[in-house]
Amino acid sequence: MGKKVYLDNAATTPIDPEVIQAMTEVMQSEFGNPSSTHFFGRSAKGKLEQSRRTIAGLINAQPREIIFTSGGTEADNMALISSVKDLGVKRIITSGIEHHAVLHTIQACADADGIQIKLVKINEKGFIDLNHLQTLLEQSESQTLVSLMHANNEIGNLLPLKETADLCKKHNALFHTDTVQTMGHYPFDMGQLKIDFLTCGAHKLHGPKGVGFLFKRKNLNINPLTHGGSQEAGKRAGTENLYGIVGMAKALEIAYEQLDHHTAQIQNLKAYMIEELQKNFPDVQFNGGSAEHNRSLYTILNAQLPRTTKSEMLLFHLDIMGIATSGGSACSSGSNTGSHVLNALPLGESRPNIRFSFSKYNSHDDIDYTIQCLKKLYKQ
Ligand SMILES: Cc1ncc(COP(=O)(O)O)c(C=O)c1O
Repeated sequence: MGKKVYLDNAATTPIDPEVIQAMTEVMQSEFGNPSSTHFFGRSAKGKLEQSRRTIAGLINAQPREIIFTSGGTEADNMALISSVKDLGVKRIITSGIEHHAVLHTIQACADADGIQIKLVKINEKGFIDLNHLQTLLEQSESQTLVSLMHANNEIGNLLPLKETADLCKKHNALFHTDTVQTMGHYPFDMGQLKIDFLTCGAHKLHGPKGVGFLFKRKNLNINPLTHGGSQEAGKRAGTENLYGIVGMAKALEIAYEQLDHHTAQIQNLKAYMIEELQKNFPDVQFNGGSAEHNRSLYTILNAQLPRTTKSEMLLFHLDIMGIATSGGSACSSGSNTGSHVLNALPLGESRPNIRFSFSKYNSHDDIDYTIQCLKKLYKQ
């Protein structure tokens, strides 16, 4: 098999072997249903609650503020739908470049419950206009929820989280932030941050797929969206994905143990990629704020490459050469409408856009190989 380079870590990440080990151990020893009162159930429940305490501890939340879900999408849905159904939200302020897990859910809330949607302006680089957010908040006459992602999954733009949360609180608005791309990559102190809802999907941080969590501030009383048993303190019915949850807790533990080291390593790789692209393709441009060191997520670089006869097929050719990247968001393949994020930016002439997204498992060698292949493709 030829060389394989995985640069699509914003779509999903490889599972850390230590996570696999932790999951395998519980698969082998903990088959009990955490809701059963006998020994097997109590033991499984112990692992479940230990995982909750671990996760809560890592973000300085309280264990009862963590609700396990099937991933980021469900957590986003729960935050938004519950806000409308249970917390009296009549107006949602969001941006046009949120993930579809947020935008489509908000639209569904508008269709079903007639809530008002307000889009906050973004500037030409895709950064949220906080002055406009303030104006929209000042105009609020009914209970408002602000839903803005911490880092955009396509262009990496970061939202100043504390400033945004403080602004929302000042205007008595609820604040939901999708941290699916940033959980485990930045520290979160929920004791300090005035965030009401925050979401995570474990597979973006070297954990398993199909599991995530919603942080929900403890004073907010929401009803379950799935009905049945009284799992998750009555907030989400259904037997818990114990193996996934244990894996997620382990993945988050590793991420925060090694945070400084991996941040520096990945930041360095991204800087190297920028440098190499600029050296070899002088008119390369970077979409959104993805090349801005302090204002973008260090795992994502969205580049606009020169036009070539292969423009349409660039990703395909890279794939043939063993390099996995993405054109926009790969979260829902099969859509051919182009990226709603890139479409919202003034990108000028149509050129091939590639999202390179990195993880702790990438090396300089991966970047060298990618540049070498790109050069080959542009020469042909
Ligand atoms: C920003 C963002 N939010 C939500 C999701 C959905 O998360 P999940 O795949 O865990 O459902 C993704 C990616 O898939 C994402 O990048």
